[in-house]
Amino acid sequence: MKEHLTVVKHPLVQHKLTLMREKTTSTAVFRQLLREISQLLAYEVTHQLPMTTRRIETPLEEMDAPVLDGRKLALISILRAGNGLLDGMLELIPSARVGFVGLYRDEETLQPVQYYFKVPELLDERLSIVVDPMLATGNSSAAAVDLVKKAGAKDIRFLCLLAAPEGVARMKEAHPDVPIVTASLDERLNEMGYILPGLGDAGDRMFGTQ
Ligand code: URA
Repeated sequence: MKEHLTVVKHPLVQHKLTLMREKTTSTAVFRQLLREISQLLAYEVTHQLPMTTRRIETPLEEMDAPVLDGRKLALISILRAGNGLLDGMLELIPSARVGFVGLYRDEETLQPVQYYFKVPELLDERLSIVVDPMLATGNSSAAAVDLVKKAGAKDIRFLCLLAAPEGVARMKEAHPDVPIVTASLDERLNEMGYILPGLGDAGDRMFGTQ
């Protein structure tokens, strides 16, 4: 992937995203849409995976058929909202290895602090896709990618549903080598760090905790 930021403009992605943004959308429908949209985004973020061929037999003859090459990819969810994207992606890529990064924001320093970290082995030989629905300030995303790099990952992509320009700039400064795939580049952050126009708190909307 050459571009630092890819906005997936596919009509199905954009239509589903609009339904997710609407405040009257129920938790059940929000979750279902997130599952569907995450599969469409997964399609985009994996479209240049290395391929090889395998000799197979169809009912009619033998052929060299294309298959994915290399180690299983690693999907790394930033807790907790990342898990919403993860579920749909795992339906599409069931053999992917899975990792989790847990970060909370220190209320005094406003910096992300790690409380959980578990990732697949041999990250240096896999494509790692770090997932979090909302790229807002970019502080926790940049910190999560730092940790994933420290664990050995060299080929990393970042997948989100919505990105704020502030978050994209922060990621570009901290991790220019990590391409970002998103369904929308929104307008800005509000004073609370929420993306505008956004969709509200992604975790609360997917887990019904509001
Ligand atoms: N996290 C969210 O859930 N929503 C935002 O708008 C920003 C960060």
